[in-house]
Amino acid sequence: MSLRIRPRRLRLNNSIRSLIRETKLSVDDLIYPLFLVEGENIKEEISSLPGNYHFSVDMLEEEIKEISKLGIKAVLLFGIPKEKNPIGSEAYNDEGIVQRGIKEIKKINKDILVITDICMCQYTDHGHCGIIKNEDVDNDSTLDYLAKIALSHTKAGADMVAPSDMMDGRVAKIRETLDANGFTNVSIMAYSVKYASAFYGPFRDAAYSKPQFGDRKTYQMDPSNSNEALREVELDLLEGADIVMVKPALSYLDIIRRLKDNFNIPIAAYNVSGEYAMIKASAQKGLVDEKTIVFEILTSIKRAGADIIITYFAKDIAKWLMEEI
Ligand code: PBG
Repeated sequence: MSLRIRPRRLRLNNSIRSLIRETKLSVDDLIYPLFLVEGENIKEEISSLPGNYHFSVDMLEEEIKEISKLGIKAVLLFGIPKEKNPIGSEAYNDEGIVQRGIKEIKKINKDILVITDICMCQYTDHGHCGIIKNEDVDNDSTLDYLAKIALSHTKAGADMVAPSDMMDGRVAKIRETLDANGFTNVSIMAYSVKYASAFYGPFRDAAYSKPQFGDRKTYQMDPSNSNEALREVELDLLEGADIVMVKPALSYLDIIRRLKDNFNIPIAAYNVSGEYAMIKASAQKGLVDEKTIVFEILTSIKRAGADIIITYFAKDIAKWLMEEI
């Protein structure tokens, strides 16, 4: 057969395949989430997120040193307070769990980029992401609280804040508050496109943040919608977001690609807890090969257009990438 064009020529061996590879994961792409709890001497594996831990602040040193050695440059902090109340006041306590965590991490390695999740659901006794009025989250009064939380984290030393509440106008309010306090260089990574997703289940177990009534559908997006994602990003950019996020990642690769094609801004994708747990569970059963499938999935997220990936696999990926060298 005289075939002039044979695509298989470029698949002949690993050297040639790596030469023409379009998308390569790098440790530079990754953000590693960390869960901080009150108390002392705690490093407890999270049962819904095997391989991830609840850390008390005094136990962070070893972990941060390990992360740094692996070349991971950014962490995303979640706090789990002891006390919850209707207004989630522990979230903006300057001596709160996240605030103490930020200071400790910066003490251990000042070069680690510390990003904090800005939300109220772990801190409110009703488990919703804001202030409740008439049995729903009240948008405008919640904004004041979100801004207070962001300012408190920033005063503690956070480099970047990541509002995940999905209130309208929160990026503008946070930007205005940070600027008015002299923090013009602190950036905002907005959870701009956050769907009301069943993939957050294991996280809510890990962070004790399940809503105690109803669901989050009046503020998080309907998974059926795609145009609305563009609208959300447009608004967040106008309000001053530096990075926009799509969450979850896997069922929303089309959304990541649409944003990449329509906006000239760094895009983050959150490979969320349910996506992680599904892989862990099937790998433990021997149904799939964990390393191969993690690379395939994370590469697909990057190929779709994500510049940044937040993932519970960050340490594993960093180790695997090192082994390959
Ligand atoms: C807080 C928040 C959630 C996640 C990140 N920030 C939970 C939620 O919205 O219920 C989920 C992360 C994950 O599932 O890995 N609002």
